Amino acid sequence: MSRLITFDGVTKRYPDGTVALDDVSLECATGEITVFVGTSGGGKTTALRTINRMVEPTSGRVLIDGRSVLGSKPAELRRGVGYVIQQAGLFPHRTIVDNIATVPRLLGWDKKKARARSYELMERVGLDPAMGTRYPYQLSGGQQQRVGVARALAADPPIMLMDEPFSAVDPVVRAELQGEFLRLQSELHKTIVFVTHDIDEAIKLGDRIAVFQTGGRLVQVDTPEKLLAHPADEFVSGFVGRDRGIRRLSFVPAAELPLRSDVVLPETASVADARATGEPWVLAVDGTRRPLGWARAEDLPDSGALAGLRLTDPGRTFQVGADSVRTVLDAVILSPSGLAIGVDSGGGVVGVTGHRELADTITAT
Ligand SMILES: Nc1ncnc2c1ncn2[C@@H]1O[C@H](COP(=O)(O)OP(=O)(O)O)[C@@H](O)[C@H]1O
Ligand SMILES: [Mg+2]
Repeated sequence: MSRLITFDGVTKRYPDGTVALDDVSLECATGEITVFVGTSGGGKTTALRTINRMVEPTSGRVLIDGRSVLGSKPAELRRGVGYVIQQAGLFPHRTIVDNIATVPRLLGWDKKKARARSYELMERVGLDPAMGTRYPYQLSGGQQQRVGVARALAADPPIMLMDEPFSAVDPVVRAELQGEFLRLQSELHKTIVFVTHDIDEAIKLGDRIAVFQTGGRLVQVDTPEKLLAHPADEFVSGFVGRDRGIRRLSFVPAAELPLRSDVVLPETASVADARATGEPWVLAVDGTRRPLGWARAEDLPDSGALAGLRLTDPGRTFQVGADSVRTVLDAVILSPSGLAIGVDSGGGVVGVTGHRELADTITAT
């Protein structure tokens, strides 16, 4: 019960004029893992979302088994297409079992059958069924991602869309999740489209790899072997080759990075304090310096305290004394502010670091 996905000259231009996809044509083969890889902003997420109609192309068509996705209602379509995102995107006020049962319940399964299916899936993805009655915040990042995968699999959809599902967990857990994901796929044979910015992950997981360049241009689609052996152009060889250098960063301790604390403010700070930093983003922390979330300068109201604002999820932090620069690089790429949050062993914020500090450290080591 697998499906073939076809992109036929798909272009997406956002209302502000950004071209996110530029005439992309591609087939994601039945029962295979197609990985979309490339630089940040290359259009990977946009391309993925055209499949389940979370994004409508400006021109061109996306087809499933030869039929335009526009022929199905978005809600119906999404029930046949599992979707897994970074940070799992779980419902915080539902137990693990109820999170996993979301789609079966929408499909009208009775509660007992849906729960039985949840427990079966928990085992499948390597979770102790005793965790079923817990809430997402009581699980580690890696466990939450497993729940995210189980939830997407719950109604046994033929297609799975996965957007950086393993990018926000530490490298050891990530390797574990990747291994189990491949084992699961060898049993399930779904048609999977998997987005990552990490060429190592692409090479490990992909049956075929599609490389996206800034501007939404698809520059090469090949097996991992062919991609490494015969990069289509300088961009691809640069991307593949540069990452050989990036692998090295796993051995450089994060403690070597300079940290800034000018943008870290207590939640009691005022909007005026935040604006006075002159920075595009500030990080609010609670009384024990735990990160609460990011506030963007241009979205700040005229007055009030940070505590009253809706903050953007702080995302994944790194441990200053334990993680590597490689982990920080992932955190920077995935952070809404472009800044990664360094914490001590107790989880308190020590400071933040961004592209510039990374670039300086990488060139100096
Ligand atoms: N809703 C949106 N409105 C305007 N521009 C967007 C929107 N979503 C994404 N973009 C832009 O489209 C380009 C591709 O984004 P995206 O598909 O998220 O890339 P990737 O997943 O490869 O990092 C980027 O320049 C991004 O800023
Ligand atoms: Mg993306």
